[in-house]
Amino acid sequence: MGRRKSRDKTLSQNKNLSEAEVVMEESAETASLEEPLETLAIVGGDQTSADYYFDSYSHFGIHEEMLKDIVRTKTYQNVIYQNTFLFKDKVVLDVGAGTGILSLFCAKAGAKHVYAVECSQMADMAKEIVETNGFSNVITVLKGKVEEIVLPVTHVDVIISEWMGYFLLFENMLNTVLYARNKWLINGGIVLPDKASLYLTAIEDAEYKEDKIEFWNNVYGFDMSCIKKLSMTEPLVDTVDQNQIVTNCQLLKTMDISKMSPGDASFTAPFKLVAQRNDYIHALVAYFDVSFTKCHKLMGFSTGPRSKTTHWKQTVLYLEDVLAICEGEALVGSMTVEPNNKNPRDVDIMLKYSLNGQHYQVSRTQNYKMR
Ligand SMILES: C[S@@+](CC[C@H](N)C(=O)[O-])C[C@H]1O[C@@H](n2cnc3c(N)ncnc32)[C@H](O)[C@@H]1O
Repeated sequence: MGRRKSRDKTLSQNKNLSEAEVVMEESAETASLEEPLETLAIVGGDQTSADYYFDSYSHFGIHEEMLKDIVRTKTYQNVIYQNTFLFKDKVVLDVGAGTGILSLFCAKAGAKHVYAVECSQMADMAKEIVETNGFSNVITVLKGKVEEIVLPVTHVDVIISEWMGYFLLFENMLNTVLYARNKWLINGGIVLPDKASLYLTAIEDAEYKEDKIEFWNNVYGFDMSCIKKLSMTEPLVDTVDQNQIVTNCQLLKTMDISKMSPGDASFTAPFKLVAQRNDYIHALVAYFDVSFTKCHKLMGFSTGPRSKTTHWKQTVLYLEDVLAICEGEALVGSMTVEPNNKNPRDVDIMLKYSLNGQHYQVSRTQNYKMR
């Protein structure tokens, strides 16, 4: 989830996976869409652009993008089909069901009953899709917010959801999953996925920083650098070529969805990024992975620059400085992440970094806002 603009430049995504990433991606790697997408129809003709603005998940385009994200959808399918012991005769809650795709997977895997909760107009389509595919006796689509609906049962055995936003936490749907877990998950029940981790690395990105940020210094001869300041505060969602990576990748935070509280999504994490070559650093890049640890064999996927591209791409945070870093030198600092006070679906990020290198010394704090 977390659909937003992307820059038009698509950098190549060469594969050079770490061993862990190979295991995580194994199943998605061979993915191909087996079932046609024609079942998706245009949502009610009476929807206006204003409706879509306030309820973007009502439009089929977003669902098409998610379904066609093979890494994402095929991983969920493999998790469900290759671990039917988790679903057989179980009551499942699909939090934010969209087109109902995850519910359909669960029903096919032998779930006793699936409650598919979806708050957007897409719930109407999900109902039709469930009927068309002959699963009306197993899947009940409930249109409404998870926080407001009345579930016909008091407990569920399994909660499944695809809640992840850009930068993992943008749009803050995680809270909805935690709400559902606290309210309906039976003791010993499972949440899928159950682990999510956020990572940070540093990249050389002179060309694109010039194009996106420095551009505002001189626009047809006029100084528009006030917009430059603004553009620096907005992380950019885009693909990063793994050849741009200058340092190691640092784990910032792992969240255990089966145990965490909503407050755990706000955190400060230290980082130490050690240069693997002499280069310039223009930006830090954040990405996440998710795992399904309750599977027979660990499954999951990564949205990192060394993995197959997903619609989440990576999140690029440009630095005010261009850091001339030498091999072996460390860029150290911390990242603070928290939901915005006024709009909890936005994410505030505070970055503190310092470099005490041979060719460059700096200590700075920068603030960003995902919106
Ligand atoms: C990322 S999409 C995933 C859709 C589908 N599960 C899939 O995997 O293709 C998340 C969905 O959750 C829905 N959603 C978000 N917050 C919700 C809430 N509080 N209650 C019910 N649905 C919600 C959105 O409308 C959206 O369709």
